[in-house]
Amino acid sequence: MISQNDIAVIIGSASQELGQKICQNLGIDPCKSEVIVFSEGNTFVRVLESVRGRDCYVVQAVSYPVDRNFMELLFWIDALKLASANQVTAVIPFFSYAKGDKKDEPRVSIRARVCMDALEIAGADRILTMDLHSPQIQGFFRKPVDHLNARGVLASYFQNVDLKDWVVASADVGYGKNAFKFGQELGVPVVIGNKIRKDHSENAQVWNIVGEVAGKNVLIVDDIIFTGGSLISMAQAAREQGAKDIYAAVTHGVLTPGAQAKLDKSLIKEIIVTDTVEYRFETPGPKIKTASVAPLFAEAIRHIHTYESVSELFPN
Ligand code: R5P
Repeated sequence: MISQNDIAVIIGSASQELGQKICQNLGIDPCKSEVIVFSEGNTFVRVLESVRGRDCYVVQAVSYPVDRNFMELLFWIDALKLASANQVTAVIPFFSYAKGDKKDEPRVSIRARVCMDALEIAGADRILTMDLHSPQIQGFFRKPVDHLNARGVLASYFQNVDLKDWVVASADVGYGKNAFKFGQELGVPVVIGNKIRKDHSENAQVWNIVGEVAGKNVLIVDDIIFTGGSLISMAQAAREQGAKDIYAAVTHGVLTPGAQAKLDKSLIKEIIVTDTVEYRFETPGPKIKTASVAPLFAEAIRHIHTYESVSELFPN
């Protein structure tokens, strides 16, 4: 049983709805707090109740506007530490900078490491996050990271579907391992595309698919939708090779400007995303369905607080 006296959940600007749902699932009220963004763009945060001796959880996605939301997260952590919180966990449902995980071109920053360093210096004792684009960046943070995955939540959307003629698909080898786990979860075979990006223009193209899609319904799985290009190109390649109905299940539905219109016109019938990202550049169309990860985050917080296993909460 979680008591309001022991823990405090601070809901950051980027995760207002998810934070509220997490609190409802935990059966507690959110910690009272305020954020002011001054006219020059300077962010001010204040915790409006005592957190002395309490374990604090700051729920804040590092999503658009990415840098402002990241700075706000750092300020929350600092404010809580200075207010004598016992422990501070950064609950980051979506972490945009997970893509900056290596120096793969000359003179670039390893942005994920810089962010992890900043979180540590601000005073974060732990990170609770979900489906990082590069899971290995957990190693940039020298304290515990609990890394959840949304596979169970997304797969449960298909629990009443007869999956006899289905395949799970990944647009590229990078997500192949996750696709195989997804396939195992649903009990269907997996196919992989050979997605290529020539530069930073965000144009993705799938030229070919390894595996049989002719006559099959295809469920494309991925970690993020930005422009929608990866899903759309994979769907086109699948249809050219004889696929029937095409669906997608993706953890983080970022959907940058223009993505919605392209997905509306695409061959994909339905796209399941989770509620890790709240900011909407455009109103989601009827093809987008949302499954909530709030119960999973709430359970993870409960398990962290009671020193129980977190990995037992979801398929690994
Ligand atoms: C790529 O490596 C990621 O897993 C996603 O496939 C990609 O970032 C999605 O971007 P977009 O929607 O712009 O194709």
